[in-house]
Amino acid sequence: MSRILILNGPNLNMFGQRDPAIYGTETLGDIETLCRQTAEKNSQSIDFRQSNYEGELVTWIQEEKDNIAGLVINAAAYTHTSVALYDALELVSVPIIEVHMSNPKEREAFRHFSYVEPLAAKVFAGLGVQSYVKALEYLSEMS
Ligand code: DQA
Repeated sequence: MSRILILNGPNLNMFGQRDPAIYGTETLGDIETLCRQTAEKNSQSIDFRQSNYEGELVTWIQEEKDNIAGLVINAAAYTHTSVALYDALELVSVPIIEVHMSNPKEREAFRHFSYVEPLAAKVFAGLGVQSYVKALEYLSEMS
């Protein structure tokens, strides 16, 4: 079984309450359920986490980087700001898949740059919850 770490950044625990026109109505719990169903089909085991703290995300990457077959990350706002996350992700030798519910490149200019993208094997954005599903399927096809 491939173990996949799925990391969610700040404010993603508020999905369901954030602007539904941008993020849809699913909660992070709904996303986790869908990820678990997808992972089961692909013989993947998932560790699904969320944090509002940059340092916690960095620590989780450091702790888990040698125990996983892939990393799916929606770094949320830290996508556009965090050199610390970039440095942590540089330590990861398994495929990194960047996901977003919305497509940041079609939104405000401050969301156009991503610190994750240069290190990602693939980006799925603007597909809502399907971004997460596609990331797990992509990792499964890669392995
Ligand atoms: C997001 C896009 C980011 O720009 C934003 O800061 C988020 C959510 C997304 O999933 O669409 O919090 O990562």
